Order: sequence, then C-alpha cells, then structure tokens
Amino acid sequence: MRKPQISVIGVGYVGLCTAVGLASKGFKVIACDIDPEKIRKINQGVPPFFEPELQEKLAESIKAGNLQGIVNQTDKAVKETDITYVAVGTPSKPDGSIELQFIESAASNIGQALKHKDSYHMTVIKSTVVPGTTQNVVLPAFERESKKKVGKDFGLCMNPEFLRQGSAFQDTLNADRVVIGSFDKKSGDTLEALYKDFYSQRLPPIIRTTLSTAELIKYASNAMLATKISFINTIANICEKIPGADVKVVATAMGLDKRIGSLFLDAGLGYGGSCFPKDVKALIACSKAFGYDPELLDSVEHVNKKQPLKAVEFCKQHLGNLKGKKIALLGLAFKPDTDDMREARVIPIVNQLLKEGAKINAYDPVAIQVAKGLFGEKIEYASSANDCLRNADAAILVTEWPEFKKIAPADFKKLMRNPVLIDGRRIYDPETYGSELTFTAIGLGK
Ligand code: UGA
Repeated sequence: MRKPQISVIGVGYVGLCTAVGLASKGFKVIACDIDPEKIRKINQGVPPFFEPELQEKLAESIKAGNLQGIVNQTDKAVKETDITYVAVGTPSKPDGSIELQFIESAASNIGQALKHKDSYHMTVIKSTVVPGTTQNVVLPAFERESKKKVGKDFGLCMNPEFLRQGSAFQDTLNADRVVIGSFDKKSGDTLEALYKDFYSQRLPPIIRTTLSTAELIKYASNAMLATKISFINTIANICEKIPGADVKVVATAMGLDKRIGSLFLDAGLGYGGSCFPKDVKALIACSKAFGYDPELLDSVEHVNKKQPLKAVEFCKQHLGNLKGKKIALLGLAFKPDTDDMREARVIPIVNQLLKEGAKINAYDPVAIQVAKGLFGEKIEYASSANDCLRNADAAILVTEWPEFKKIAPADFKKLMRNPVLIDGRRIYDPETYGSELTFTAIGLGK
C-alpha cells in the first residue's frame, strides 16, 4: 500500500519533530513555515533550535530526500500531499487565553488550497488549542474558503502532542498514547491507519474521541503534571518548617504508591517552559469563559509564581543585604537539554536579585546566547561553571544540568569567596554538601 504523503504547517518543536519523525520512517514530508530563515536551515539539515538527536535525524531525512522545507506555500503543501498537520503556535494573550491568529490564517490558507483539490484530503490539528477551537474556528474557515463540506470532501482530526523538549525526538517515536479526536469516522480511521504504519510493532494505546475531548485531554494532562509539581513544592515548603524533614524522601515514598506514581514529584524552583505556564493559564481562562472557576488551578499557578523567589530569600538569610554581593547562577534554561528560556524560573530570580542590588554571574552549557537576548548587559556571563563560581558570595543551582552534579564541595570551597550553596533542584546530597558548605536546599528542614 502506498504510504500517504504528509505536509506539516509550522515547524516549531512539535511541527519539526513530527516532520522528522515521519520522514525518518520513510514517509515523504513537506515542511512549510512562514519564516524563510527557519526553512533555509532545515533544508541544510540544521534544526533552528537545540534538541538532542534531532540534528542527526533531520540531516539524514534531508539527505534521503524524504523531507523538504518550503516557505509559505500552503497550496503546494496541500496539493502535493494527502495529510496536512497544523502545528503553528498558540501564544498566550495578556488575559491568559490563547492567540488564534496563526491557527486562523493556517485554516484559511488550507481552506483555499482545498478548493482546488479533487482527491480526499485530511487535516490534523496538532497545535494546542482550547476545547471547541477545531470545531468552531478551523472547520468553518475550511468550509468558507473551500466551498466544500467536511466529512464529505475532506477530513478533520485533532491529535494533541505530548512530547517534551530535551527528549522531543525520542518522545515522537515512543508515545505513551495517541489521542485521535475526529469529526467523523473516516477521518479518525485515516489517521489511525497512518499511526499503525508509523509505530508498527510499538503501537501505543489509541484513544478515539471527539474533537473537543481531544483538545481537553492535552490541557488536562499538562495541568495534572503542573499540579503534581506545585503539590510537591507545597510539601517542600512544609518540610522546610519541620526540623529533619526532607521532601526528597517524602516524594520517593509517595511515588511508590502506584496510584500516585514517582514522576513529576521533583520539588524545586517550579515549572517553566513554553507549555505548562501557558496551558494552565489558558485552561483557567477557557474554563472561566465556559462559566466555571477552576480554583485548584489558580492555586497551582500561585504556588509556581512564588517558588523561584525562595532562592533569593535563601540568599538573603545567609548574606543579609544583597547590595553589591556577587551571586553565581548555575543554569539558565527552563530545564536541562534545551536552550529554551521561555518562562524559565531564572527570569524572576534575576529580576529580584537585580532589584536587591546583587551582581550576577551566570553560566549555562547551551543557553548563554538566548540569555544575552533577554538580559543583555544587566548580568555577566561565565564561560564555564568554575568561571561562574569564582569569587562568588553565594551560588544558586537553577537548572539541573548533569555537569553541575559533578561539582564537589571542595570545588565550591576553592572557587567561591564565601561557600554558600543553594540547591534549587535538589541534585546535591545534603549530608555531604551540608557538612562542608553553608548549604540550603528546597524542601529540607533544618
Ligand atoms: C511538557 C509536558 O511534559 C509534555 O508532555 C508536553 O507535550 C509539553 O509540555 C507541551 O505541552 O508541549 P516540557 O515543557 O518540554 O513538556 O517540559 P517538562 O519536562 O514537562 O518540564 C516542565 C517544567 O517542569 C520544567 O521547568 C521542569 O524543570 C519542571 N519540573 C518537571 C519540575 O519542577 N519538577 C518535576 O518533577 C518535573
């Protein structure tokens, strides 16, 4: 049977990983984006962002002729393929709701292209959109522009993505589940057949449902994970008041209960990135628009907002007034294995430290360039962890990059003016580090 040909509109994390994942399994894929610079890089086999494994797989796909990037030609993308994925961004608006302009313009462009297409075509919405968007925004734009009928002349599915930055490519190949929301049975069957071919022997459970339920599954999943993080950070804050208590041990023991599970119970400085903060806000806004106030989610957000500032409080407990004090920040990215700093927890930490008059020297293995774009000359940038720690009055471990785990207490003592270490991600053994340094960690009772 001929493999369907695929096009992907929007090549951010989700779009590019989908495109490269399919191309690496022998599908012919066209990747289309409005940004000529991104497409130029992709056609040279270079991802426009840092993501382990992706560069190699992208280069292989381009070389094999399975992937081709094109700029802003939705008509070509639709005409020359059988299935089009939409993976354009849905950024937050100031009120927390999502900006739909990219979805709207992609839907209009696809609708116009569908007008001239004689064969059945399927569109799959992969962008994270609030319940009702595919039905009430995408579908009407298709029918208006194409003058054709969904379900008869073309198909429509909503298929949320659950990949994580830093392991995006592996997550694309090894999903826990595939959620297929479909307008009609034929659309769902078409997408299910594609995934049966794609995953072959490793087919994960497939959930077939409505468009709106699929949309909500994405938000509910991210909100649950964000809730786990704010929950364990709440327990961490309680632990800090109880002499001898340690949130890490609490989390390990809790996680052994199968009903709770051990993942996403790492206490720290809170969640960042392009997804959890935006998606929790969007779910709150959408729920309120439907007439229900989701108070639990307000608290999840509230805890997360306060959590990073604890690192600054700890510094003040040890150093008193921070004016002129030199603070070393280990890690800038919102998590390891990415250079992404969107909503990174380091941003409120830097802002607060600067407000208190501290001098900041920061180091990250890959995110320095991105940080320079954000903070400019307001802070200094080190070329290594050692360079960052030299003569510092306190160090804050912000992102748990593996290389930071190797810094021994003796290194901190040798390099720093004052060996005060604040472990914001619980990577250091409190007994070893606590006995040799002035050591404070999230969720550790004194
Ligand atoms: C998240 C979800 O994990 C993906 O399933 C989802 O597809 C993605 O959002 C998305 O919606 O596109 P991602 O933002 O890449 O993925 O990163 P995570 O690994 O989930 O981490 C998010 C934040 O939570 C990071 O700042 C991390 O440091 C923090 N975190 C994570 C904790 O503070 N504690 C934990 O136990 C786990």
